[in-house]
This record gives sequence, C-alpha cells and structure tokens, in this order.
Amino acid sequence: MRRALVAAALAACSSSADAVFPQPERFVDSNPDPAIVEVDLIAEPGTQELLPGKSAEVWTFRDAAADRGSIPGPLLEANLGDRIIVHFENRLPDPTTVHWHGLRVPNAADGTPLSQVMVEPGATYDYELTALDAGLFWYHPHMEADVQIERGLYAPIVIHGSVEPDVVADRVFVLDDVKLESSGQLSTVTNNLDVMLGRQGNVLLVNGQTRPTLDVAAGTRERWRFVNVANGRYFNLELPGHRFLVIGWDGGPLVTPYEAATILIAPGERYDVLVEPTADTALRTLYYDRGHDIPDPGPIELVPIRVGAPGPTPAPLLGVWGDVAPLPIDTSTPRLRFVLEEQETGVTEPTFSINGERYPDVTPTLARKGDLAIWEIVNLAEMDHPFHLHGMSFQILDEAGQIATLGWKDTVNVPQQKSLGVAVRYEAEGRWMYHCHILEHAERGMMGELSVSP
Ligand code: C2O
Ligand code: CU
Repeated sequence: MRRALVAAALAACSSSADAVFPQPERFVDSNPDPAIVEVDLIAEPGTQELLPGKSAEVWTFRDAAADRGSIPGPLLEANLGDRIIVHFENRLPDPTTVHWHGLRVPNAADGTPLSQVMVEPGATYDYELTALDAGLFWYHPHMEADVQIERGLYAPIVIHGSVEPDVVADRVFVLDDVKLESSGQLSTVTNNLDVMLGRQGNVLLVNGQTRPTLDVAAGTRERWRFVNVANGRYFNLELPGHRFLVIGWDGGPLVTPYEAATILIAPGERYDVLVEPTADTALRTLYYDRGHDIPDPGPIELVPIRVGAPGPTPAPLLGVWGDVAPLPIDTSTPRLRFVLEEQETGVTEPTFSINGERYPDVTPTLARKGDLAIWEIVNLAEMDHPFHLHGMSFQILDEAGQIATLGWKDTVNVPQQKSLGVAVRYEAEGRWMYHCHILEHAERGMMGELSVSP
C-alpha cells in the first residue's frame, strides 16, 4: 500500500470548510507487491476549464484506470527504495517522451531524445526506475516541451522517506500560468516576447485552478511542497505575517532547515516547507526582477488561507534531518565553464546558446563515471536562466567556492550577468541533457549534452 498523502479531506474536517483545496489524483497502483508501484499512463488531448465556466482544449496525462485526464496529471507516489514501472502510451497527434524531472533514473528511462527514440502517436514505452531520493519531483514531456508542457502535460511525483515531520496535512502545490484567450482557450500565438522571456501567462494556476481557497486548522503544522512547472514565470512566494521553514530542496531534505520570508522558485525548481499559519492570510507571489524590464504587476494572490477551529498541536520538530555529505571538492577539482548567452536581432526570433553552440548542434561534454567536477555557469545574458541537469543532482557553491547549504539541487537559477558554481559527481552512465528550464530557451538552443562513460 502506498502511504497516503494526508490531503484535502483532513483539512476539510476543520470547522467551516466548504472549499476543498485541490490535490492531484493519485495513480491506481496495479502491482500487489508493496515495494513495486506499477501504473499505466496515457497522454491524450482533453478538455479542462482553466477559466471558470469555459472549457479549454488541452493535452492531459491520464491514469488509464481513470475516465479522464487532468491538469496536473496523476500524482505518482512511492516510498524510498520502491521500484516504479510506468507503462506509457502516446495518444497525442505528435511524438513525445516522458522525463522524470529530478529523479536519478537509468539512462533508458530519462525520457529525452538522447536516451530513447521518441514515442510516436499510437506507440508505447515502458519506463522503469527505482526511487532513490525522497522529495517532490515531476514528470513532463521532453519533446517540444515549450508547447507540450504549456498545453497541460505535467504532474507531480512524491517519494516518501527519510524525513517525515509531524504534520496534519502534506500538500502539493503545482504552480503554473497559462496564456488564455478571452474564450478560455489556450493562446496559440507565440510572439518574440514570449520567446525572449519564456511565455508568461495571464492566468495563474495552483493545481490546475485559479485562487483555490485553503482551509487550515489553527495551531497546527502543515507541509507544503511547491513545484514551478511554468514555461517562464518565476514565483516569489510570500505568506504575509508568516515565515516558511524550508526543509527540503529539489533532491530531498536539507541537513539544516532554514527560515525564509519569501521563496523564489524558478521554472523546474522545488521547495519543501513547513508552515504554521495563525491568522487568515493568502499565499501570494511577489515581483522579482529577472531582467529585460518585465513590468511589476504587484503581488498576485494565489491561494487565500482561512484559519479555522484549532487542530492538534504539532509534535516538536525532529533533530535529525537530511543526510547529505558535502562533495569533497578542493583546488584540484576540475572546473568546467558553461557560458549562457542570448542572441537578439530584433528582426527574427531570439535564439539562445551554451558555450556558443545551439542544441542539437552541440559538442558533448565528456566525463567519466565517478569523477567529481565543478561546473561554473556563467550567465552573460540580460536575464536570469534556470539551469537544469539530468541524471544526477549537484551541490551549490557560495561566492567563496564553498558548499554553503547541504542539500541537493538539480535546477538552479543563475542570475543575469552573474556566475554560479555547482559541484557534481558524475554518478550515472549515459547521455544526459543540461539546459535552461525556460522552455522556449531550451527549445531554441540553450541545451547541451553530458556524456558519461564507464
Ligand atoms: Cu524538467 Cu530537461 O527537464
Ligand atoms: Cu533561459
């Protein structure tokens, strides 16, 4: 049996609750072995109301056991160490793949054009992996990702494990924005601004809905897991009057949690936090200057929070958190440079490159399994780019070149005109992608290949 997320139902017991904060539906696990999660996943066209009362034509992931697909798609939930088998079928009119963002998978399960042939319309592919890390991850196509993810193909993955603090609710927040016509349909227009900034939508979604209300019980503690699946929008989250206790990053729990008034989440990143709201408030996203003079729309409310009757008092927090040893870097550790640039002529669509090359015309970065390296990611552009590596996670270096916070990341924001170092151990063989997670950038050149040999 999968361990259930203590989800909306629980919060709904508190007092006056009539709104139910949406949670993605969990997959039906067809395998009786408790250590194996086996599911059937379909990608297909569908419809969903993105503006209330107006149905939009979208693309969805569907659990074959459910009658319809949804945005986000079904939640894949497993325990640390479980085997995961996903039988995937493509019922879209276009070829696709499924990438398990952040999970350390065998190369053949990575779901990119480097690691498999694409899944043609009507074809199937089986993904098999083992849950090696506990945390929040997500899955999405890795073909024309700017178009396919925008249409609705994304879903969360929760791996339960090592650090499980005492909470009354463990919730997933899948953050997105969509560019909608007044008809409620997804816009099919991609202009140069959409390409330059990553398409920013005019409607913000949390678990596929606009401004869903969340009821919480007073005096309790909740765990909120955030993932930003937007093409280009950054979320800079705030809960006025409260602070977040950040307990985990992309790849799992931190060794030492820290408090934060705001959390900046670039596309692709995840944050795992504990909150104890005491008075009505709202989760909102604040302006963040990511370059190119994007205007400040002011704070945008994402989730109104209503505090109801008191619930159970939380147990004291654990003393032991994540178990992450620092990668043993020193002055002899090889250093590689990755220079991110954008080319804008004003006439044609902007393009994007890494070390002067544009995917797929790139020279692979060659590495040997087990070696350690420092990647220096140099952003020469006038906007931030979130850098993502497949197949393995990394640790972030501070300005002094030291590992500042002990935790794993697979996606990190590299601010405009700055450089950032990460330490990485090439632990898995195969052909892996690294790229900007602003999807319009990745699909227009800002993507490269890491080839790890035995
Ligand atoms: Cu979430 Cu290569 O991507
Ligand atoms: Cu970018």
